[in-house]
Amino acid sequence: MRTEQPQVIYLKDYQAPEYLIDETHLTFELFEDHTLVHAQLVMRRNPERGAGLPPLVLDGQQLELQRAALDDQELQAGDYALDDSSLTVHPKSERFTLDTSVKIHPESNTALEGLYKSGKMFCTQCEAEGFRKITYYLDRPDVMSTFTTTVIAEQHRYPVLLSNGNPVGSGPAEDGRHWATWEDPFKKPAYLFALVAGDLWCVEDSFTRQSGRDVTLRIYVEPENIDKCDHAMVSLKKSMRWDEEVYGREYDLDIFMIVAVNDFNMGAMENKGLNIFNSSCVLARAETATDAAHQRVEGVVAHEYFHNWSGNRVTCRDWFQLSLKEGFTVFRDAEFSADMNSRTVKRIEDVAYLRTHQFAEDAGPMAHPVRPDSFIEISNFYTLTVYEKGAEVVGMVRTLLGAEGFRKGSDLYFERHDGQAVTTDDFIKAMEDANGVDLTQFKRWYSQAGTPRLEVSETYDGAAQTYSLTFRQSCPQTPDKLDKLPFVIPVALGLLDAEGNDLPLQLAGEAAADVATQRVLSVTEAEQTFTFQGIVAKPLPSLLRGFSAPVKLSFPYDRDQLMFLMQHDSDGFNRWEAGQQLAVQVLQELIGQHQRGEALKLDPRLITALGTVLGNESLDPAMVAEMLSLPGEAYLTEISQVADVDAIHAAREFARQQIAEQLFDALWARYQANRQVSRSTAYVAAAEHFARRSLQNIALSYLMLTGKSQVLEATLEQFEHADNMTERLTALAVLVNSPFEAERAKALEAFAEHFKDNPLVMDQWFSVQAASSLPGGLARVKALMQHPAFTLKNPNKVRALVGAFAGQNLVNFHAGDGSGYRFLADLVIELNALNPQIASRQLAPLTRWRKYDAARQALMKGELERILASGALSSDVYEVVSKSLA
Ligand code: TRP
Ligand code: ZN
Repeated sequence: MRTEQPQVIYLKDYQAPEYLIDETHLTFELFEDHTLVHAQLVMRRNPERGAGLPPLVLDGQQLELQRAALDDQELQAGDYALDDSSLTVHPKSERFTLDTSVKIHPESNTALEGLYKSGKMFCTQCEAEGFRKITYYLDRPDVMSTFTTTVIAEQHRYPVLLSNGNPVGSGPAEDGRHWATWEDPFKKPAYLFALVAGDLWCVEDSFTRQSGRDVTLRIYVEPENIDKCDHAMVSLKKSMRWDEEVYGREYDLDIFMIVAVNDFNMGAMENKGLNIFNSSCVLARAETATDAAHQRVEGVVAHEYFHNWSGNRVTCRDWFQLSLKEGFTVFRDAEFSADMNSRTVKRIEDVAYLRTHQFAEDAGPMAHPVRPDSFIEISNFYTLTVYEKGAEVVGMVRTLLGAEGFRKGSDLYFERHDGQAVTTDDFIKAMEDANGVDLTQFKRWYSQAGTPRLEVSETYDGAAQTYSLTFRQSCPQTPDKLDKLPFVIPVALGLLDAEGNDLPLQLAGEAAADVATQRVLSVTEAEQTFTFQGIVAKPLPSLLRGFSAPVKLSFPYDRDQLMFLMQHDSDGFNRWEAGQQLAVQVLQELIGQHQRGEALKLDPRLITALGTVLGNESLDPAMVAEMLSLPGEAYLTEISQVADVDAIHAAREFARQQIAEQLFDALWARYQANRQVSRSTAYVAAAEHFARRSLQNIALSYLMLTGKSQVLEATLEQFEHADNMTERLTALAVLVNSPFEAERAKALEAFAEHFKDNPLVMDQWFSVQAASSLPGGLARVKALMQHPAFTLKNPNKVRALVGAFAGQNLVNFHAGDGSGYRFLADLVIELNALNPQIASRQLAPLTRWRKYDAARQALMKGELERILASGALSSDVYEVVSKSLA
């Protein structure tokens, strides 16, 4: 916990390290009530920092120093200085060796940072600054060293001993103990260090690299999960092949290992050669994991594997550069998933997520640029902005340079910076140099926070046959900076004629030859007009195709035009987008009616449009499912000036009810046809099967709104007889949100009884109930917290119950009496002492207080103030609370 005023760290203060570490030799002695860590660091003065030998200040927290020696000379009390975050010693020469031994307590580490225990196994999480809780070190990413690691532990409890790199020896030790030594020849920062010890089983496979050499692949899990590794292994091999083919990147060690652990703060971690995963991102089989979980496993396995190049071989100079590896790697994993599944559906999911959550972050008190200028606690900057907006920025570079130019740039980047710790500027420089372009203005995407608005207007001149689009960009104020300069906004677009065909796009002044029907305009000014010629009749523009930039675009479409685009746009993403905009217009109208106390009346055009989509058998069923999904309550909140939680909920539920009733026959037909296929086909985790089940399941959730007995019967049939978790969990969720109390209770009980020994499935069981918007939500969540399968010490459980309640159950969380806010604040105060990273993340919904009415604002602020006054806060929680109240 924090004792003094927390320090703000600034990018502008960056300085290269005074000393470097060439070799790191570690020995861990693991015991049940403590661990000893012996470190030998082969060090030298950093020549970049000039002559002289300043004091050497090593990072270290919660360490009990037992001894220290410089070049084999034991240090006495007066030779060094210790405080609660550092050890200072005084080198006598340019090159020297520092030995330390410390005692630590992984067995009581509930923060899950550094060395800790997850169940019976030891594991580590060092990113960003966890290594300093293991030993005294220069814990910063621009200090890169080779590592040799020896682990000594009781043979019987910990038969498997793992660390980074290649295994170089193992054998028995005294007192029933044994040892293993690992050597990692690639220089790496300490945040990529990993150690695992436990009673683990593994599945093994191998992969033959393009160059012909084999790599051993192993996935380590607790014995009961050995039957749930195949999907991750297949995903890993696909990822390795894809990175060779698409980026020319080969794997570099003889062995690649993944370990699944139950207690993990995030999704997974790319430690060199030894990725450690949240078990939710590894384990998957039909009976226990949904289609979404299968796709998440595939994506996260790819993400961590891709980090071997974008993150490990080329790493970050400092933590302000985090998006260098995260934005790029998210972009890479998204492209991989697009290639493995449906590209359009993947894009729709990612954009919906970005617009709901990253746009909200960008509009809130924690808004920051993709490359932040300052932070108090770096753990708070593993954000949607750094990851998802960062990926959009890389995507725009590719849109501007084209696929080939982008590949030239990435080749140069990897070649030029292999083995280095670099910056986002270095990344862009490689793209510039490989393509002979200037991206100076483009780099504002890294330095300016906030979501740009792009207002578009049109004029048509029939006599001249010209059509002009005028773009006006602006960016709202964010807490960090007031004035924003114009961005470079790539706008992919097409123009549709009255039949829905794409017109050739010839800008004024261009020759007629070779005119494409889709182009990318670069909007670089605050206001800019583009004029197309040879346009014989007024066209309909299709703007920002594929969501070519992370902006809020507005164009005055009317509803008939949106319906036309839904049917005719040649860009699949924009067909979906037109449907979303139509639904937003219709829902906002309903919200207004609700607020004025009028009877709700749904624009029948929404039903017509969805009916057309539903009746189109040639459309990808996954697209049909996406188009049938109305914009979520969180998105409707994000686009509101003042979000009226109850009106949003009432309007959206009313629309869903109307859709269910008026399109009942079509929904029922498509449900039955798809359920029939599911019944007669074995489960396959592949795009066309995901697609079929997604349409089947969204149809079922609409159908149940009618309360018809035939739907109840179908739901019970699916719940009882499905051979996979996707269908079973949807049926359960449908029952949980239905008025059929007896059936709901029975299903919940049967499900829990059947899956009580599978924690990941129980997480789903908690989530489905926590997200249910039926009245009494908070009481249900509080009761579930008493369930024997629940514990605050496991992040997955906290996310499943508390996260789902505060993030998805908006009517209950925002109850007018403030009970939801009080509950969350109490929880954050309790979690603050146990696990600061999780506490700080759960806080996010309270930071959005500016979106709500005055009464709710006061209640939310009151709870933030109560947290601030609650005593010794971690830097994680302190930063978020204090910035939210500022
Ligand atoms: N670098 C990891 C990833 O991309 C995520 C990560 C960062 C992390 N900090 C962490 C994981 C702390 C667990 C705990 O995907
Ligand atoms: Zn990552």
